[in-house]
Amino acid sequence: MESPRITVFDTTLRDGEQSPGCSMNVHEKARLARQLDRLGVDVIEAGFPIASDGDFAAVQAVAAAVPRPIVAALARAARHDIERAAQALSAAVRPRIHVFLATSDIHLQHKLRISRQQCIDQAAESVRLARAFCEDVEFSPEDATRTDPEFLFQVLEAVIQAGATTLNIPDTVGYTVPAEFGELIRNIRERVRGSEKATISAHCHNDLGLAVANSLAAVANGARQVECTINGIGERAGNASLEEIVMALRVRADRYPYQTAISTEELYPTSQMLEEITGISVQPNKAIIGRNAFAHEAGIHQDGMLKNRLTYEIMTPQSVGVPDSKLVLGKHSGRHALSLRCEQLGYRFERRQLDEIYRRFVVLADEIKHVHDHHLLELIRETAEESQRIPPGRVEAGQAAAAAAGAEETPRKPYPAAPSDFSVIGLTSVPASEHLSEQEDYLWGV
Ligand code: KIV
Ligand code: ZN
Repeated sequence: MESPRITVFDTTLRDGEQSPGCSMNVHEKARLARQLDRLGVDVIEAGFPIASDGDFAAVQAVAAAVPRPIVAALARAARHDIERAAQALSAAVRPRIHVFLATSDIHLQHKLRISRQQCIDQAAESVRLARAFCEDVEFSPEDATRTDPEFLFQVLEAVIQAGATTLNIPDTVGYTVPAEFGELIRNIRERVRGSEKATISAHCHNDLGLAVANSLAAVANGARQVECTINGIGERAGNASLEEIVMALRVRADRYPYQTAISTEELYPTSQMLEEITGISVQPNKAIIGRNAFAHEAGIHQDGMLKNRLTYEIMTPQSVGVPDSKLVLGKHSGRHALSLRCEQLGYRFERRQLDEIYRRFVVLADEIKHVHDHHLLELIRETAEESQRIPPGRVEAGQAAAAAAGAEETPRKPYPAAPSDFSVIGLTSVPASEHLSEQEDYLWGV
């Protein structure tokens, strides 16, 4: 049996844009929308047309730029908002109006100042109006996770009767936890009359760092749409990160047997484009697309990686569009990675020789944190000058260059010339007496 399909609803251009410093102009939004199309998202939420003329124009521009995905426009549960959204979407091939109204008592009393009954009536009326413009209407009860569940179910029943085709459940303030959110989604499926006619969707914010975990719990309990953003950008701590949800579903298909239409090789290029447009970089340790997501520094890890990547990588960098893993030479690196890097630069040492290079390397790495190629070449030269004990073997230049590709960043400075007094002795082979068992090799590699 085919695994159920999860609709990926990207809201980078709407909720994502609401993060400080991430606003985009019309041209930039259309450009990113084309990349989101290449990535394979099912729905692009392009903006909130009532909010500004720029947002209105952006929805129009995105609708014109990408005919394949559904293009959604956000509207409050108010006539003018809904009409403006419909107008902005008039040229869209597959338009969706996304209507929202808060349902928690906190919002009803302090923000909207309406009763629960008024809330139900306003939600249903707004969905009916949106349906008059568009067959595809999504409704979001804002602050759903802090709403009395019984009241939430009543609102949802009312909007289904009014014609809502997607019920999106927002954890607006990032308050819920996975078990609770999963249970809420399951209860909506089981207890809201007519819910089988609508798609249930999750929209999670990351205030407690749980947005992706909550989205996955929703999927496991019957949600068939996830709302998310590239790089997890969005209000406050952001939205659930698209790349993390998609790769969790892919890497852990044993626990989450669901499919998406995402071309995962486009994840990194999309993330990079967003960084370029907004000028906001993700943290280096960001899962999937961060600078360090595929960088290995610890000696034990580098040694394992060089023997078999499966030891420390659960997905290949190529599968998410990252050019290659990086072995970063720092104070945690081991001899195995150091000797490989030396070979890539054209020098092969016997183990005894490498020990001396390694000793100096650790001292240097303690001082400068990251040892780049030019530092290493300098170190080899100095070591050779000070001691005639280290005549390095030269590796074929072509082989060295090929091996060097992708292993570490290209050196910023030209390499210093190889020491002239280095005797070129060809490839050295490690004497049989120095061959160690696998376990010793493992320890030595660190
Ligand atoms: O977080 C939220 O509640 C929203 C709604 C507009 C869906 O972004
Ligand atoms: Zn949101």
